[in-house]
Amino acid sequence: MIRYPRRPNPVKQVNAFCEVRQSPIHGRGVFASRLIRKGTRIIQYVGELIDKDESNRRGLALLEESKKTGGASVYIFELNDDYDLDGDKEYNDARLINHSCEPNAEMVNEEDELFLYALRDILPGEEIAFDYGYDIEHFLEHPCRCGTPSCVGYIVSRSQWDQLKRRLRKNKKKRKAKA
Ligand SMILES: C[S@@+](CC[C@H](N)C(=O)[O-])C[C@H]1O[C@@H](n2cnc3c(N)ncnc32)[C@H](O)[C@@H]1O
Ligand SMILES: [Zn+2]
Repeated sequence: MIRYPRRPNPVKQVNAFCEVRQSPIHGRGVFASRLIRKGTRIIQYVGELIDKDESNRRGLALLEESKKTGGASVYIFELNDDYDLDGDKEYNDARLINHSCEPNAEMVNEEDELFLYALRDILPGEEIAFDYGYDIEHFLEHPCRCGTPSCVGYIVSRSQWDQLKRRLRKNKKKRKAKA
């Protein structure tokens, strides 16, 4: 019998706090490589500064791609009234941070620069995740696989969870009535 060597799970050290590797949530993710204390600034989200017209163009292109392929990753962050930041760049390791319904970190805009801060102590090996804050509008296109006890099943901003839960209950009732 031929024994093939197991494919190693490549790890890339990003900075003193975190590393990139395969994630159980989706694709690659960012993980704590040491204890990160609550309030620590973990990483900056960097990318290309684009105006709102360009941002809308790129956003629409992503929507089209997602319709064709069933999914597309979104890397554009709102910075201010005039500009957004497109983080879809190899040099931006922070683009690989996944969403969680029980986030341990949050993205903060500090004078038009984006930084990720720890919301609580994060243990070595824990995946680092924040609330993407997606609007409920296209929720069906963004199923959530964060696996946390309070996962609502879709990547939707916590501020819209009540609305989402009402919608999901309504849809369930409709399906029952049809059956
Ligand atoms: C900015 S990327 C994050 C990095 C991604 N894991 C990768 O390897 O490219 C965002 C995409 O990752 C996926 N993703 C992130 N968090 C997720 C979650 N909680 N559940 C399911 N998919 C998730 C979605 O496809 C989302 O559009
Ligand atoms: Zn979730």
